[in-house]
Amino acid sequence: MTPFVTITRRAVAQTIRSGKSAPLATLARSRYSSRAFQTSTARTAPSAAAALLPTTNTPAAESVPDRVDLPVVKSDESKVSIRWQDGRVSKFHNRYLFDHCRCEKCFHAATKQRLKQLSDIPSDIHAGTVQPSPTGVTIAWSTPDSHTSYFPWSFLQTASYDPPLVKVKKSEDKILWNSSIAKSPPIVEYSSLVPSATVSEEQAERGVLRWLTKVHEFGFCFVSGVPVTPEDTEALIRRIGNIRETHFQYCIADGGFWDFTADLKHGDMAYTNEPLPAHTDNTYFTDPSSLQIFHLLSHPPPGKGGSSLLVDAFYAASILEALHPDAYSTLSRLAVPSHASGSEGTLLRPLAQPVFKHDAITGELVQVKWNNEDRGVLGKGWRSEDVEAWYDAASKWEEAVKSADAEYWVQLNPGTMVVIDNWRVMHGRSTFTGQRRMCGAYVGHDDWHSRLETLRRKFADKPKDEAARKEYEIWSVGW
Ligand SMILES: [Fe+2]
Ligand SMILES: [Zn+2]
Repeated sequence: MTPFVTITRRAVAQTIRSGKSAPLATLARSRYSSRAFQTSTARTAPSAAAALLPTTNTPAAESVPDRVDLPVVKSDESKVSIRWQDGRVSKFHNRYLFDHCRCEKCFHAATKQRLKQLSDIPSDIHAGTVQPSPTGVTIAWSTPDSHTSYFPWSFLQTASYDPPLVKVKKSEDKILWNSSIAKSPPIVEYSSLVPSATVSEEQAERGVLRWLTKVHEFGFCFVSGVPVTPEDTEALIRRIGNIRETHFQYCIADGGFWDFTADLKHGDMAYTNEPLPAHTDNTYFTDPSSLQIFHLLSHPPPGKGGSSLLVDAFYAASILEALHPDAYSTLSRLAVPSHASGSEGTLLRPLAQPVFKHDAITGELVQVKWNNEDRGVLGKGWRSEDVEAWYDAASKWEEAVKSADAEYWVQLNPGTMVVIDNWRVMHGRSTFTGQRRMCGAYVGHDDWHSRLETLRRKFADKPKDEAARKEYEIWSVGW
């Protein structure tokens, strides 16, 4: 049984306007279709794409299929077109197809890199012959060296851009949440993540996959039962990937791993015992770290306080977008400078970026950058009217982030580590007394996604057939 239900942003907005708060106490589930390259490369057309195959054997000008269920391929001086089962026709420019050839002359099977230069692609290249088969199409080009390319149907279906045939959403299975996540926050056991006498290397790898999948879905995940030492914490973090080094070098225990108690000499409020409102870290980097990992090692009595605050910024942004679409678009458009200037010998001035960053291809929200303390001087490149619009929008945003509905407060204890996707989930803390010892690290966005994706592929069902497996290895990269 799952405590999460699917609600649309429109439904949220309507209910908010009607004054009923029920949906705000309900977790919003955002499930999108996966657009990943189809892994099925069986010797017949892939089942996931079966609906795209032709129902009739329409005669083609340049190729007559030898089986009734093959797509129909035609070519001319500029394009290759493929008629699928549902009648839709994908058109590919000749130059595009030749550029994407993955024969051994064009693509290095081991390094998975393109070998061909753009100057190797004649502007007037066209197909001499096209030969469909159950698995794909072979094209002999007009080049003097009789270059032949083979493209699996699954590649052509996924790559189709005129028209697009598959959705390109990347945020499948993200689960937006609010304060009610407190009832059942995502958590995994330390013992399932590291090899031991009772847990094999493969079981531990599967454990890391479950762990990172939760981080992907919820934007954070606790790990319980972690030995209360910096060494074990660091070793656990390195199960995910490389630790990122920062300018906070002098509090680093080893590489980029940090281990500190409150101390203002570090030039950042994170190292004081002041309360911190919800924020994302590293807004002073052009490429903020995506994972931020904390482990409270000790906070002995009479020390008190220091509750941790987590806010799903994607949830808060979805509320803002539903209630105040203009504010959402203002914060998506206007670039905000940030800086880190409090450490001797460091002056970080990243590229100015908007608070909400979107995927250039899918348009989805992919990153929230928000740290009011590190915000720089506004207005450069803005129009006069943008200033009022930005303050209005940012105030509404702050209201959404600081609402009791959005805030999830939790008291961390030694032995429980928290992993936060810093591109999505904001963190803060209440004030505290006494000496708190914290350790942790940052991991880059591309690094942890690489780990997640390689684990997914490692444990995914593979084509049994050797040729199909080779084909998958060549065609499943580059997306
Ligand atoms: Fe922080
Ligand atoms: Zn080639």
